[in-house]
Amino acid sequence: MANDKPASILSHEKIETSNFLMIVLILLVLLAGGMVEIVPLFFQKSTTEPLKGVMPYTALQLAGRDIYIREGCYNCHSQMIRPFRAETLRYGHYSVAGESVYDHPFQWGSKRTGPDLARVGAKYSDEWHRIHLINPRDLVPESNMPAYPWLETTPVDAGAMPGHMRALRKVGVPYTDAQIASAADEVKGKTELDATIAYLQVLGLALK
Ligand code: HEC
Repeated sequence: MANDKPASILSHEKIETSNFLMIVLILLVLLAGGMVEIVPLFFQKSTTEPLKGVMPYTALQLAGRDIYIREGCYNCHSQMIRPFRAETLRYGHYSVAGESVYDHPFQWGSKRTGPDLARVGAKYSDEWHRIHLINPRDLVPESNMPAYPWLETTPVDAGAMPGHMRALRKVGVPYTDAQIASAADEVKGKTELDATIAYLQVLGLALK
């Protein structure tokens, strides 16, 4: 008689032979895990408040950040120093969450064909970056970083900046109306190379 009893609703066999039940239960477990591990991060000060000294990007730096993303620099460069001795000796203080609260999307990454750039700001002169971006091999003969010569001859798209800053304000970057109003003027006449360098030179300064 005992063998004829219907399996209980959540018997192993029932779960493992039902795609639907399996998916629903996996989602429930992920949901619980997410609630416990991820949700608190949205409310913790250390992850949501900017580190002292971290400012929203200026219009020119922001334009540079867009170019960094457009050109796929993140495919070879991370921007996250891990809290290990080998990393901090090479790059400086490990990265903290409060440094990237204004980054949407953040550029942490883990792919390092080239060095981490989280603290590259002020490491080299603007002139070094200018030569390096136009042709990395002029400065580092063995470099396999691509050359980006068109940055020097392409003007920044000034008209795009105000809308972009307004969008970032919607997700919490505290741009003022005055900053947005003057954004187009700020980048007028600048090249994409100027913008990229302005962006690189501000990376990681707050904790440097
Ligand atoms: C194919 C991989 C690759 C891509 C894509 C790439 N880089 Fe690099 N990058 C490297 C390598 C390798 C080095 C180290 C050799 C050198 O200095 O050129 C480097 C070095 C650098 C350095 C010097 C870092 C230091 O601390 O010495 C900077 C700054 C830099 N890259 C910026 C950029 C920017 C900005 C872009 C996008 C426009 C970019 N890279 C795209 C591979 C890459």
